[in-house]
Amino acid sequence: MSLSYRAAVLHAAQAPMSVETVMLTELKPTDVLVRIRAAGLCHTDLEVIEGSLRYPMPIVLGHEAAGIVEQVGAAARGVKAGDHVVLSWNPHCGHCFYCDRDAPILCEQYLGEGPKAVAFDGESRARLADGRPLQQLMFLGAFGEYCVVSDQQAIVVPKEIPFDRACLIGCGVMTGAGAALNLGAIAHGDTVMVIGCGAVGLAAVQGARRAGAGAIIAVDIDPAKLALAAKMGATLGVDASRDDPAAAGKGATGGRGVDVVIEAAGSAAAFRVSPEALRPGGHLIWLGKVDVSKDVTFRWGSLMQEKRIRRVSYGNARPRRDFPLLARAYLEGKLMLDELISRRIKLDGINEGFAALKRGETIRSVIIFD
Ligand SMILES: NC(=O)c1ccc[n+]([C@@H]2O[C@H](COP(=O)([O-])OP(=O)(O)OC[C@H]3O[C@@H](n4cnc5c(N)ncnc54)[C@H](O)[C@@H]3O)[C@@H](O)[C@H]2O)c1
Ligand SMILES: [Zn+2]
Ligand SMILES: [Zn+2]
Repeated sequence: MSLSYRAAVLHAAQAPMSVETVMLTELKPTDVLVRIRAAGLCHTDLEVIEGSLRYPMPIVLGHEAAGIVEQVGAAARGVKAGDHVVLSWNPHCGHCFYCDRDAPILCEQYLGEGPKAVAFDGESRARLADGRPLQQLMFLGAFGEYCVVSDQQAIVVPKEIPFDRACLIGCGVMTGAGAALNLGAIAHGDTVMVIGCGAVGLAAVQGARRAGAGAIIAVDIDPAKLALAAKMGATLGVDASRDDPAAAGKGATGGRGVDVVIEAAGSAAAFRVSPEALRPGGHLIWLGKVDVSKDVTFRWGSLMQEKRIRRVSYGNARPRRDFPLLARAYLEGKLMLDELISRRIKLDGINEGFAALKRGETIRSVIIFD
C-alpha cells in the first residue's frame, strides 16, 4: 500500500504551511489507518509554527482530530474498520518505570520518541511526494486527509457525535475538563479560578462545574471569551487587562484566596498571578506553556504556605476511559462543544486559521475534510 493524500506541511518555523500531496508507508501490524474528518487548530500547533516549540521538519501538525477507521493492521486491537474514533496523542508502552507508576504521560518511550515527531515505534509513517521522510507531530500529524496511528491512539466514540465536535475532545477539551475532573483537586463547593478562556480554559470551566465547584471565576483579557465562560458556568468574570485577578479571587473568598486555580492562558503574566490568587494549601494546576527556554519569575512569598503546584499535560487523560465519557456528556447535553467552534474551514485555509488564533479571534477553528 502506498496511499497519496493531501496534507498541510510545515517546512520551516515562521513560514506558511503548504498543502501538498504526500504519501503514507505500509501499515505495520498494530497500525490503524484513519481517514480524518475534522481537526482542530490548537495553540500548541501555533507554538510549533512560531518556533517557540521546536520539532524537526518538514512536519505535519495537527493533534486534535476525529475520523473513520479505514483499515487496521493484522494485530491491531480494540478498533475495526468503520469505527468512529477520536485520536489520542499519548501512546504509552505499559511496562516502563512511569507506566508502572500510573503515569502514562511520562512513559519513557512516549517522552523519548515524542521530540522526534515520529510514530510510537520511532519511524515516521509519512513521506513527502519525493520520498523524503515527513515528521508527524505528537504521534499524529492530523492536518491531512489520512493519518496512521498505533491502535491505542484510535479511541472509539459513539457514532452520534459529529466529527467537528468529537475532534475537540482529543486535546483541548480533554486537557481542560480532565484538569478539573481527573486530579481530585476540586472539592464540592470550592471556589475555582480558571485563567485563560480559550478552548482549554472553557473546558476547565465546564469541568469545574461538573466537579461541583461552588463558584467559578473566569479570567481572560477578552470580554467575548468571558461572556462564553459565563454561558458555560462561570459565576464571575475578571478582565485581567483591567482588573487584578488575585484581588478578585480574594474578594470572592473573604480575603483567603481561591481553593483551586487552573491556568490555561500560556502567558508569563498568567503564570505569575496564578499563585497570588490561591489560598494557603490550595491547588494550583498549570496547563499552559511559554517558550521552554524562557524564564518566568514569581514573588517567592506567593508560592509559600503549603500550596500544591502541579504542571499537568493532557488532564491526566486515560483516553479509552475519558473520550467516550466526554462524548456521552456532550450527547446528553452536559458538555458544551458547539460553542467552542468559532469557524469551520477547509484545509487550504489553515494558515489564515492560525493567523486568526494568534489574533485571538477564535476559540477553535476546525478543519472539515470532505
Ligand atoms: N497541558 C496540555 O496538555 C495542553 C494541551 C493543549 C494546550 N495547552 C496549552 O494551554 C494553553 C491554552 O491553549 P488554548 O488552545 O486554549 O489557547 P487559546 O489561545 O485559545 O486560549 C488562551 C486564552 O488565554 C487568554 N489570555 C492570554 N493572556 C492572558 C492573561 N494574561 N490573563 C488571562 N487570560 C489570558 C487569551 O485571551 C485566550 O482566550 C496554551 O498555552 C497551550 O499551549 C496545554
Ligand atoms: Zn511506558
Ligand atoms: Zn493541543
